[in-house]
Amino acid sequence: MSKIRAIITAVEGYLPKDVIDNEMLSRMVDTSDEWIMSRIGIKTRHILKGDKGPSDMAKIVVDNILQKKNISPDEIDLIICCTVTPDMPFPATANIIADKCNIRKGFGFDINAGCSGFIYGITTGTKYIESGFCKKVLVIGAEKMTAIVNYEDRTTCPIFGDGAAGVLLEASEDSPYGVIDEVLHADGVGVKHLHQVAGGSCHPATIETVMNRQHFIYQEGPAVFKWAVTKMADVTEELLEKNNMKKSDIDFLLPHQANLRIIKATGERLELKDEQILINIDRCGNTTSATIPMLLYENQDKFKKGDNLILTSFGAGFTWGSVLVKWAL
Ligand code: COA
Repeated sequence: MSKIRAIITAVEGYLPKDVIDNEMLSRMVDTSDEWIMSRIGIKTRHILKGDKGPSDMAKIVVDNILQKKNISPDEIDLIICCTVTPDMPFPATANIIADKCNIRKGFGFDINAGCSGFIYGITTGTKYIESGFCKKVLVIGAEKMTAIVNYEDRTTCPIFGDGAAGVLLEASEDSPYGVIDEVLHADGVGVKHLHQVAGGSCHPATIETVMNRQHFIYQEGPAVFKWAVTKMADVTEELLEKNNMKKSDIDFLLPHQANLRIIKATGERLELKDEQILINIDRCGNTTSATIPMLLYENQDKFKKGDNLILTSFGAGFTWGSVLVKWAL
């Protein structure tokens, strides 16, 4: 029996032009460039201004993918939008992107897996292809995190930024390249440490929820840190073992970008050299579901055909996972 694989055949990304740097933040809250750089590793983050949403950034990403591949919107079977900051509670932002990009022959939905959104999304898209149900799948991570950042909370406001990036997955028979394997995990013990209280059906918007700033990110940083600092390496080791691979088989690590100290600790555990660990947190901050596809987009010229890429993340839920991609381009 031949095996159908999902291959990444295009990657695009978009960052809004406006940025907030640490000097600007230190005029808003009691912080400093020195503290943010030493504790988190972020210099600037991009911000999407006005009433634009993730779908507006994702439209640019999708249009560029379709144009580059010379593909008609009618050929897209499925669009998955990974986001915790949807344009609106419903319908899915995937449907809004599809409308803006004139994708009308397929179907789509959103995935909310916190910062692991893209890892869950690429796994889901891959399964739709491997089962033979779809041939062309778009997986987009798109976030307007600055819409839910409390700019009075100095422990969370330096971390997050906006952006969108995504991939086209295409079916290929018996290819040695593509998305090879995945391991995903979740543990609801993390709900209490990282969430947004209001805006859902338990606590719909009221004057009180707004006054109490409950529509913003609530994060207990040190509790999240403790989990994040080990889980990306743990799950990557699990993925390597499942595939009879060694740490030395990894060519590049594309880790979620939440804190430079977490990224470095993960790279050290996996015995990787600095140049193998891809980083953009200094320029982009944590763009949640967009961090990993943005790393793919920015570094694609570095990858050689057959390189083993490890995509790994940890995020709200808690959720975490790792994906092995054998680069095909
Ligand atoms: N500027 C200056 N000082 C700050 C500050 C800021 N922006 N934010 C916090 N501090 C202070 C605190 O008040 C505290 O002071 P104290 O010791 O007098 O009480 C001190 O710095 C240390 O705070 P702490 O919260 O322990 O800092 P930290 O080193 O844990 O860093 C985070 C905070 C949020 C950067 C870190 O915990 C983190 O990255 N957590 C994980 C985030 C993550 O992975 N999220 C995944 C989600 S996707």
